[in-house]
Amino acid sequence: MNILVTGANGQLGNSVRKIAGNYPQHKFIYTDMPEVDITNLPLLEDLVKKESVGAIINCAAFTAVDKAESCEELAAKINVDGPKNLALAAKSVGAKLVHISTDYVFDGKSSLPLKETDATQPIGVYGRTKRQGEIEVEKSGCDAIVIRTAWLYSEYGNNFVKTMLRLGKERESLNVVYDQIGTPTYATDLAYAIMTLLEKGFKGFDTYHFSNEGVISWFDFTKAIFEIAGLGTKVSAIESFEYPTAAERPAYSVLNKRKIKAAGVSVPYWKESLKTCISLLEKQ
Ligand SMILES: NC(=O)c1ccc[n+]([C@@H]2O[C@H](COP(=O)([O-])OP(=O)(O)OC[C@H]3O[C@@H](n4cnc5c(N)ncnc54)[C@H](OP(=O)(O)O)[C@@H]3O)[C@@H](O)[C@H]2O)c1
Repeated sequence: MNILVTGANGQLGNSVRKIAGNYPQHKFIYTDMPEVDITNLPLLEDLVKKESVGAIINCAAFTAVDKAESCEELAAKINVDGPKNLALAAKSVGAKLVHISTDYVFDGKSSLPLKETDATQPIGVYGRTKRQGEIEVEKSGCDAIVIRTAWLYSEYGNNFVKTMLRLGKERESLNVVYDQIGTPTYATDLAYAIMTLLEKGFKGFDTYHFSNEGVISWFDFTKAIFEIAGLGTKVSAIESFEYPTAAERPAYSVLNKRKIKAAGVSVPYWKESLKTCISLLEKQ
């Protein structure tokens, strides 16, 4: 199968590249801005035809959660029109689409891990545009799955783990929020989850939740990052109001992974995956 990867220079895109060698039966076509802009429908329609694309993995998105609050138009163009265009292009050649969404489609008021069927209620622009993107993919009628993930990190780009490792080396102490609860996701694990579902095949539209296993706060995550990296930086637990940001975040966004596990996807424990990522970062 010819698999088109959009947004291939981001965290997830690079993680797909990293594991692609394990799937020699497929040809991966990596694309990103400025050459392949997912807001450009005619370009996508030509590309899927020219490359005989059988599946699209959409790793492209507007992911700057705080910036989205003041750039709603651009965030919507990329997070709503983008997946809509990809779904239409996929449908035009009978290809399958794997689209990635977020735990931020929920309001964070639940106290139980969130299922795919739970009501969405985004509390910020980023979450709202991502939810609208899901709806557009479903409406298109193409064979598609949406995988909602959370707290993504990797060896690539900018992410919480890399930021904390840098700050941990620069500072003696740090304040981190303990009242936002969720589960981190190592992008390599998500890339394997995507490939497992693609290889299994799917028809129609479906939604899955995927993160690593376990439940923690950003404070606990930071403590673990420093412990694994051997950094003695002191970490103090603070509340979200003490660290104001442009966008409000859901207080609780743990995802229930029962459905994706039943589909044969493995869900590694968050700390094991964190150790793998930090050891790769230390070798760089
Ligand atoms: N990061 C997280 O914590 C997190 C959490 C939950 C869900 N997710 C979702 O997971 C997916 C992957 O996230 P990620 O962290 O890997 O994202 P990322 O590192 O920000 O990568 C996104 C990529 O998409 C590209 N892009 C932006 N606009 C584009 C356009 N119009 N056409 C084509 N490419 C475009 C970006 O290029 P530029 O860099 O040039 O803009 C970048 O290379 C996204 O759907 C995101 O919403 C992420």
